[in-house]
Amino acid sequence: MNDQAESLRLKLTKMAEGSGTKAIAVVSGKGGVGKSNFSLNFSLSLVKSGSSVLLLDMDIGMGNIDILMGRSSGKTIVDFLQGSSSLKDVVLTGFGGIDYIAGGSGLSQLVRMEEDQVNFLIQELEALLGKYEYVIFDMGAGINEESLRFLLSADEIFVVTTPEPTSIMDAYATMKFLYLANPELPFFLIANKSPSPREGEETLKRLSNVLKKFLSIEPIKLGIIPEDRSIQQAVSRQIPFLELNPKSSASKALTDLAERYKQNKLKDTQQVTSLPFVSKLKKFLFER
Ligand SMILES: Nc1ncnc2c1ncn2[C@@H]1O[C@H](COP(=O)(O)OP(=O)(O)OP(=O)(O)O)[C@@H](O)[C@H]1O
Ligand SMILES: [Mg+2]
Repeated sequence: MNDQAESLRLKLTKMAEGSGTKAIAVVSGKGGVGKSNFSLNFSLSLVKSGSSVLLLDMDIGMGNIDILMGRSSGKTIVDFLQGSSSLKDVVLTGFGGIDYIAGGSGLSQLVRMEEDQVNFLIQELEALLGKYEYVIFDMGAGINEESLRFLLSADEIFVVTTPEPTSIMDAYATMKFLYLANPELPFFLIANKSPSPREGEETLKRLSNVLKKFLSIEPIKLGIIPEDRSIQQAVSRQIPFLELNPKSSASKALTDLAERYKQNKLKDTQQVTSLPFVSKLKKFLFER
């Protein structure tokens, strides 16, 4: 190991001891199931209940977190990846005081991250971690080699699906892929766009049964978010749905879910015996 890598490793070890940051990656198999809306509004809900959150749009070149909250001008992660800004400089403050890093748009072909860029991003991110209780990664649909490194470093994987069989199948395939890469990753399931509570329950049950049966893993059923027209309205108005329609069924469900998540935190942590985020980053950076 060269000197530079060794010094970074030591720095990460030191940081890991003091970092209580929880890194959550929000994924799906199929696209368009509601990850970005969930990530944004879940983050907002955590902020409203007093937590500090950094929301990262990892759909690089196709990002929309900033658009969903009406802040589409400003620096993005692309400025960081292209070397014109430090990571600190691309952290912006959005709706309701959420800190976020936008993903940039219209550049999908140009900004596929190279491996050393992923490493650099992870390394720079580490310096920001201690400032936040939660770091939430809104991932693009599916998984590629670069996003896999982030996913394997996360503390928790939130998997969003809809009740459609195709969405459930793709969610299962994604979890299987992640499980094979790291069997210790804890999965949290969200059934979004549920036409009825029964269908939501059925979706969570189906997915969780198949995970138990084929992979012997027990996911945490995080909750159900109903199909709610007011979300489309919020997207068009570029205001987070929690803010535009706090009394809508989706907002109530999301707030409940976030509250339950925070209250169960201890229980969930006990179920998970894996290393904290920074230690895992270190592992993936240096022990390959
Ligand atoms: N609970 C819901 N009820 C009704 N419509 C919803 C709901 N959640 C999301 N939507 C709609 O689905 C669309 C896609 O949502 P979103 O962009 O959050 O999905 P995504 O999973 O991030 O997509 P991508 O895979 O492209 O990143 C949005 O335009 C929104 O209007
Ligand atoms: Mg998205």
